[in-house]
Amino acid sequence: MTRLYGAITGWGAYVPPHIVTNHDLEATLDTSDEWIVQRTGIRQRHIAGADETTSTMAIKASLAALAQANLPATELDLILVATSSPDYFTPPASSLVQAALTPHHIPAMTIVTGCTGFVYALVTAYQFIQAGVYRNILVVGVELLSRFLDWRDRSTCVLFGDAAGAVVVQATEQPCGLQGYDLGSDGANCQHIIMPAGGSARPFGPDVLDERSHYIRMNGREVFKFATRIFAPASERALRMAGKCIDDIDWVIPHQANLRIIQAAAKDMGVPLERFIVNIDRYANTSAASIPLALAENLANGRIKPTDTLLLLSFGAGLTWAAAVVQMQPQLHSAQSLSEKSRRVGEGNVFVYP
Ligand code: COA
Repeated sequence: MTRLYGAITGWGAYVPPHIVTNHDLEATLDTSDEWIVQRTGIRQRHIAGADETTSTMAIKASLAALAQANLPATELDLILVATSSPDYFTPPASSLVQAALTPHHIPAMTIVTGCTGFVYALVTAYQFIQAGVYRNILVVGVELLSRFLDWRDRSTCVLFGDAAGAVVVQATEQPCGLQGYDLGSDGANCQHIIMPAGGSARPFGPDVLDERSHYIRMNGREVFKFATRIFAPASERALRMAGKCIDDIDWVIPHQANLRIIQAAAKDMGVPLERFIVNIDRYANTSAASIPLALAENLANGRIKPTDTLLLLSFGAGLTWAAAVVQMQPQLHSAQSLSEKSRRVGEGNVFVYP
């Protein structure tokens, strides 16, 4: 049987147009631009408008990715949506995206692993591609966390932003795609990032509202320690599965949670910071959207080429981690590299590629 690979043929991202700067937050919170920049590297974040939801943002990014892949949504075989901030607990955000994109009753699945969701979903997509089950898969990472943050809690609300990113993975016989990965979960430490109420453990009620315990709570220091501990070994395991070493990697795309975490990872892994993609200053932590957003933005500006070998590196609620070594497109396409044609065009903050 012919071996099947998955090429990433389309990518797109959406960020809501409304920007909230650190200085804007100084007006309502006991915080400062200086503290936020020094401790996190964040300068601003995009916040969704009242007329937007998680699925409307996901759909915009998906349409951009499908346009780039030149693939009609009716040709999709599977939709995977990674999010921890869905429109509803139920129905799943993935079904809302499916209904908007295609009349065909294709499978659609929401993956909830916090900030690692996009990498988990991408690795899942590749299992279906490599097994020969599905040929065209849409993978979305989307988050509208601003509706789940306690805007009175300075230790969490300054850290996050809203965004969506999507890729199209298509079966091919040309070697490319996912080469190695490492996924994991340390559930014993799940309490460090938690929405304490609103689920079956503590259903919503007036007491929950009073305590504001339906919002995200985080033990920043513990999460920071976990992230800096996990990045280097997870990378090593993913690289080993890929049969590669760190010098084979053109770009590391880390989850954008804190610039100091990214700097620590670079040091631990012995990789110059210049080979890490960093955009946290402009978008803050967009959770499951952070990696596909960074990918789409840097393909658009030509920094990343579709034939580059990438190391995607993420951690998040769970506590989970996910590392993946990916070469989006086969080398034979390099002569007509898509990135040469890439440009940022289109409506608002949708990254679209001709
Ligand atoms: N503005 C001003 N001061 C703030 C603040 C803010 N927005 N948030 C917290 N502080 C204060 C704290 O109250 C504390 O004051 P105290 O010493 O008087 O008690 C002080 O700053 C230091 O807090 P600490 O939590 O030790 O800071 P830190 O250097 O660990 O930075 C985080 C806090 C949250 C930025 C950092 O721990 C972090 O990024 N952790 C990882 C979080 C993460 O990645 N989450 C997403 C997971 S996907």
